[in-house]
Amino acid sequence: MDLSVPFFLLLAAIATTTVKATDHIVGGNKGWNPGINYTLWANNQTFYAGDYISFRYQKTQYNVFLVNQTGYDNCTIEGAFGNWTSGKDFIMLNKTQRYYFICGTGGCLNGMKVSVVVHPLPSSPPMSAVAAEHSSSKESAAPMAARGFGALLVTSFAIFGLTLCGLVWI
Ligand SMILES: *[C@@H]1O[C@H](CO)[C@@H](O)[C@H](O)[C@H]1NC(C)=O
Ligand SMILES: *[C@@H]1O[C@H](CO)[C@@H](O)[C@H](O)[C@H]1NC(C)=O
Ligand SMILES: *[C@@H]1O[C@H](CO)[C@@H](O)[C@H](O)[C@H]1NC(C)=O
Ligand SMILES: *[C@@H]1O[C@H](CO)[C@@H](O)[C@H](O)[C@H]1NC(C)=O
Ligand SMILES: *[C@@H]1O[C@H](CO)[C@@H](O)[C@H](O)[C@H]1NC(C)=O
Ligand SMILES: *[C@@H]1O[C@H](CO)[C@@H](O)[C@H](O)[C@H]1NC(C)=O
Repeated sequence: MDLSVPFFLLLAAIATTTVKATDHIVGGNKGWNPGINYTLWANNQTFYAGDYISFRYQKTQYNVFLVNQTGYDNCTIEGAFGNWTSGKDFIMLNKTQRYYFICGTGGCLNGMKVSVVVHPLPSSPPMSAVAAEHSSSKESAAPMAARGFGALLVTSFAIFGLTLCGLVWI
């Protein structure tokens, strides 16, 4: 019995899923450092559920805390929902909500705070509706089409793979 074909299809599905998500590097090539206006950075990005936000910084000096709006406004980490300290942190934005991240070592007072809104992943059929909603930005249409196609690929790979696996296992 040859299991390699369904296995390949599953791998392909996983690979397609991974490629689909965008990694938003906070601050771009300036990274996570004091004296940068991250509101400007965030306003220039569109975040979708399942995307990553990544923080790159000197781990001996800074870190990353996920806080609520009070924590963001006041630079406090009381009741934080999570913290990351590796210096190269990839955090998945799982939910469609507003997220608040701050530096917990004092950098927050020097601007090391960022708030991002995560949008639902646009689905393929209502493409025109989504395009209309985002008509102010022409560039957004292309990535969305790519995402829609990616999602379609994943679905078909998954169904095909499962069908084959089912056949093999039964
Ligand atoms: C960052 O830029 C935004 C948008 O222009 C502005 O409202 C905000 O005051 C700036 N923040 C700082 C700390 O300069
Ligand atoms: C906004 O994004 C564009 C394209 O990714 C980039 O060229 C530009 O430098 C960005 N602007 C800011 C303020 O980050
Ligand atoms: C946050 O700071 C504001 C003033 O900057 C203050 O009025 C408020 O009580 C603070 N909130 C908390 C929870 O400390
Ligand atoms: C944020 O969390 C703190 C500590 O748990 C809490 O006192 C505060 O009310 C929360 N603020 C919001 C806006 O939920
Ligand atoms: C950071 O997160 C860890 C768990 O990942 C937790 O045990 C620790 O208390 C957190 N630190 C702070 C200061 O909240
Ligand atoms: C999203 O979920 C993953 C896996 O459960 C978790 O590691 C990550 O911290 C979550 N992201 C946020 C922003 O909570």
